[in-house]
Formats: sequence, structure tokens, C-alpha cells
Amino acid sequence: MFVSAALLGLVGAAAASPLAIVPNYPPTQQSTGFRLFVNVTDKSLDFSPSVQGLYVNSIHVGAGLAQAGVGAKSDNPSIFYQNGTATDYRFGASTIITDQGSPLSPYGFSLAKDAGSATLSTANINGGPGTKGVSISQFPEGFRFLQPETYVICNEPLAYYQGTKFNVVKQAATTVSSTGQVERNIPAGCVPVRLLPECATLEDLPAGSYSSHEFAIKSDCYANPASINWSLYGP
Ligand SMILES: *[C@@H]1O[C@H](CO)[C@@H](O)[C@H](O)[C@H]1NC(C)=O
Ligand SMILES: *[C@@H]1O[C@H](CO)[C@@H](O)[C@H](O)[C@H]1NC(C)=O
Ligand SMILES: *[C@@H]1O[C@H](CO)[C@@H](O)[C@H](O)[C@H]1NC(C)=O
Repeated sequence: MFVSAALLGLVGAAAASPLAIVPNYPPTQQSTGFRLFVNVTDKSLDFSPSVQGLYVNSIHVGAGLAQAGVGAKSDNPSIFYQNGTATDYRFGASTIITDQGSPLSPYGFSLAKDAGSATLSTANINGGPGTKGVSISQFPEGFRFLQPETYVICNEPLAYYQGTKFNVVKQAATTVSSTGQVERNIPAGCVPVRLLPECATLEDLPAGSYSSHEFAIKSDCYANPASINWSLYGP
């Protein structure tokens, strides 16, 4: 019997390869609009009541100024979109926007370094542009989430509310020490989370809006992140 060298090669390769672990990830859809769903990644650090399953919203802290907070789905969470040209997106220069005010205007998701910390930033949703490079992860990353990581929820007093405490969204930059140790820099008392895009309808803008959806990017999202059984997926 004639067996080609190519086939022999294939058989050999199959026999030699160890049992492959096939990565498997939850299904996604595509949408321009999305909510940001809070997924607590270390349940031992969660607050009581839990912040699991809440959504990112805006806490008004002045004219055209807001901090990113969290609230229930029934509390009208913000609907975001990624904005930019295809080139912006490819080179990490797109931003994340939500439309607010009257007429509707762009409010960008931005990260502002906290005074006195080299790694912690506060997430703001102020009128104007967002921070370039804040984006939903893409292939080859298997899961979809807001990056750069790590997002955390902290309970902090807000001066605008005379020191009343709110659950606010912050970002802890990962650092690598001189010895190669990776530090996630999660601040004590804060809950590490992933912010997952939940598909939502980006409504058409009424005439006279200052916002524009011309550069709204269609991106991956989960239809219902609350229903995902995470133990079925990974690595
Ligand atoms: C969501 O959180 C669970 C743990 O609570 C974790 O197993 C899962 O990987 C998280 N999802 C993502 C996309 O990180
Ligand atoms: C959206 O992206 C376009 C294309 O880069 C840019 O001209 C526009 O200013 C962006 N909008 C906002 C609100 O950043
Ligand atoms: C999630 O999947 C695991 C593994 O198949 C299963 O044991 C568990 O019962 C599932 N949980 C739910 C809530 O369906």
C-alpha cells in the first residue's frame, strides 16, 4: 500500500502531540451600544451588599462632570459605545463614549491619576473626549472586558456630596518589580472586578444633538453576562 510521506508526517504529529486543551469562551454578539456589567473576580473581597451584577453609571459631581459609579440595571445604567476610525481602533486610539445632557453631547470615559498614588486612577465620565486606549478587549484575548485592567470598586467619600460615600470605579495599573514580580496593586478595601460589555441598543440621536455616531464601532458584547456559567469557560 502506498502511504504518502505527508500523511505519515500527519500521523506522527498527531501521535506525538499531548492531549490538547481547547480553549472555550462564552459566545458573543456584535453591537455598537453596550452597558458595562460588573463581574467580581475575587468574591472574598466583595462588599455587602454585593456589587456583582451591577452596571457602570454616572455620579454627577459638577457641571459636565461625573465619576463612574455602579448601580442596578433598573437605575438606567449608561449606554456606551467605542468611538474612532478603523485605524484609531487598530492602533489603540479609540475611546469609550456615552451621550448625556440636552442636547445630547459626548461624555468620554477617562482615567485620571489619583494624587499620591503611582498606580491608582479614578474613572471619570466628563463632558468631552475619553482616554485613548480604554477599550473592549479583542481577539486573540478570549474574554471581552474593559481594558487596561484592573478595574476596582471602592467605597469613597465624594466632596460634592459633603463626604457621603459612594461605590466608585477606579483602575489599578499592573506593575512589574525589578525582580520580575507582577503586582496588580489592588488597593486594600476595594473589590477587583472585570467590566464586561453587555449588548445594548445605541439609540439614534435626535436632530440637534452635539454627539455623533458616525464613528461608533461595532464591537463584541455578551447578550446576558449575568447568565454565563464561568466554570464552563477558559483558560
Ligand atoms: C467573572 O467572575 C468569575 C468569578 O466570580 C470568574 O470565574 C470569571 O472568569 C469572570 N469572568 C471574566 C470574563 O473574567
Ligand atoms: C470620534 O472619533 C472620530 C474619528 O477619530 C473623531 O473625529 C471624534 O472627535 C471622536 N469623538 C469623540 C467624542 O471623541
Ligand atoms: C455550571 O457548570 C458546571 C460544570 O458543568 C456545573 O457543575 C454547574 O452545575 C453549572 N452551574 C449552573 C448554575 O448551571
